[in-house]
Amino acid sequence: MLERFDKLLESALAQLASASTLEAVEAVRVEFLGRKGSVAEISKEMGKLAPEERAQTGKLLNAVKQDLESKIESRKGALEEEALNKRLESEWVDLTAPALGVRPGSLHPVTQVQQELEDLFRSMGFAVLDGPEVESEYYNFDALNIPADHPARDMQDTFWLKDGRLLRTHTSPVQVRGLETLKPPLKMIAPGRVFRNEEVDASHEHTFYQLEGMMVDRDVSVAHLIYFMKTFLSAIFKRDVTVRLRPGFFPFVEPGFELDIQCLICGGKGCPVCKHSGWVELCPCGLVHPAVLRYGGADPEEWGGFAFGLGLTRLAMMRYGIDDIRLFTSGDLRFLEQF
Ligand code: FA5
Repeated sequence: MLERFDKLLESALAQLASASTLEAVEAVRVEFLGRKGSVAEISKEMGKLAPEERAQTGKLLNAVKQDLESKIESRKGALEEEALNKRLESEWVDLTAPALGVRPGSLHPVTQVQQELEDLFRSMGFAVLDGPEVESEYYNFDALNIPADHPARDMQDTFWLKDGRLLRTHTSPVQVRGLETLKPPLKMIAPGRVFRNEEVDASHEHTFYQLEGMMVDRDVSVAHLIYFMKTFLSAIFKRDVTVRLRPGFFPFVEPGFELDIQCLICGGKGCPVCKHSGWVELCPCGLVHPAVLRYGGADPEEWGGFAFGLGLTRLAMMRYGIDDIRLFTSGDLRFLEQF
């Protein structure tokens, strides 16, 4: 009997040593300690032994059983620990590494230029106004001295709503709105989006930004106008830029001017942006027409003023050297990430 115990233990330990998975260890347990296993079989046979021999053998068998049980448990424990270590190694995370965080965005280049101009004009005492993008015919045309049959309306064809309103073609409607709300004397700017039924090319969009400016006071002259133009141009470009002032016609100013900037894309040599002229129309302006003052409730005998309509999107093109206006609305991140 003792010899059988030794053999049983020896064979069980050998199998246990080569069991490399939890399933294999379980198979060893079933084979030796299971209900029909080797130990159970020996127990059955013990009935045949003499009583004193039976007691001694029983003790020995129990010892073998306990030894085997504890060895199986510790083998299981070792395998489980090994598996856990492997998993931990594969799932290792460096908790001290800095988080990636949200990828920061940036302001659109037109917004950046707009905000700079807002800050500048605010510092010079200008109020910043907003006007509706869906505008009435009255504010967009009539109150700007552009009657229904005036040819100037054709130059600013737009998108009409069924109820007779329209998408504003310029920021100039805020001139009369500003006169109504602020009352003279006043200094205001009104940046915003405008719309035109336009043939799109390198320098023309159907949707673009303008910044309206107006000062109404006693004794306002063209000298005031030129002063503010020069101030904002040198603030934006931070270097000398060549500009020219030429006569321009707009029904809501008298006299009227066109302020052009020498094209900064080609340096004046000619390119698609300046339509090969070397100059880019940037900021029409003039002295506010008496009719507009009257529409805004101001007496032209007492008050006078200047107004300008800066092409904000074009200004951003010149500022950053962007050679195609369509890039602004392309939504292309490779473009936007540069600002
Ligand atoms: C006007 O819109 C007048 N309201 C400006 C004005 C205001 C004159 C106050 C006098 C007093 P104009 O249509 O020229 O004018 O447009 C003004 C500027 O907007 C242009 O010089 C140009 O810089 C820009 N602009 C005009 N059309 C487009 C377009 N399709 N795409 C991009 N920029 C444009």
